[in-house]
Amino acid sequence: MQTAFTLRPFRTDDLEEVMSINRACLPENYSPYFFMNLFERYPFTFIVAAQEKSLAGYIMCRIETGFSSFSLLGISKKGHVVSIAVLPKFQHKGIGSALMKETMKNMRLYKAKECYLEVRISNISAVGMYKKLAFDIVRTIRRYYADGESAYVMAKKLSVRSP
Ligand SMILES: CC(C)(COP(=O)(O)OP(=O)(O)OC[C@H]1O[C@@H](n2cnc3c(N)ncnc32)[C@H](O)[C@@H]1OP(=O)(O)O)[C@@H](O)C(=O)NCCC(=O)NCCS
Repeated sequence: MQTAFTLRPFRTDDLEEVMSINRACLPENYSPYFFMNLFERYPFTFIVAAQEKSLAGYIMCRIETGFSSFSLLGISKKGHVVSIAVLPKFQHKGIGSALMKETMKNMRLYKAKECYLEVRISNISAVGMYKKLAFDIVRTIRRYYADGESAYVMAKKLSVRSP
């Protein structure tokens, strides 16, 4: 069943709810300062999905300059998805994909040429979503997470037309 949701920019009064979604969905949790710092530096790529009066999910990113995952591009600006989560009761309704598409559109405002992220190799739903959004697995980082699990680095070029 489709659930109506709205994407909108993060606001400072969303902080507590976003942190609670983060704690409910992911083992990687952060301080309030960390969330606010990403918001202050990259406000266009910190987006929430609102469902009636509460939040269903969020995405927050960082813009970096570094070597491209696609060698021909050399050094470029890259959008790094730091954290994305959708509360379990709202998953499988297209919210995660919508958050990704909106943030990739806004990454271009910062002149990012590609988008990348790390994901646990066991995270079937997230890897499935990124593949469906045309991300490639570009490498594996062994023992990337604190508990020893490895990560896939997945990346996608941001063309003028994508996503
Ligand atoms: C990953 C996550 C954000 C996806 O959010 P979502 O709103 O459920 O995603 P969508 O509904 O947009 O799903 C898009 C596609 O992803 C894939 N997908 C989603 N869940 C899946 C699952 N459990 N198994 C396989 N593929 C899945 C499917 O291809 C799906 O398309 P479909 O619905 O047409 O089959 C969500 O599962 C989540 O918050 N997980 C916990 C936090 C997390 O793992 N974050 C990512 C860290 S890198």
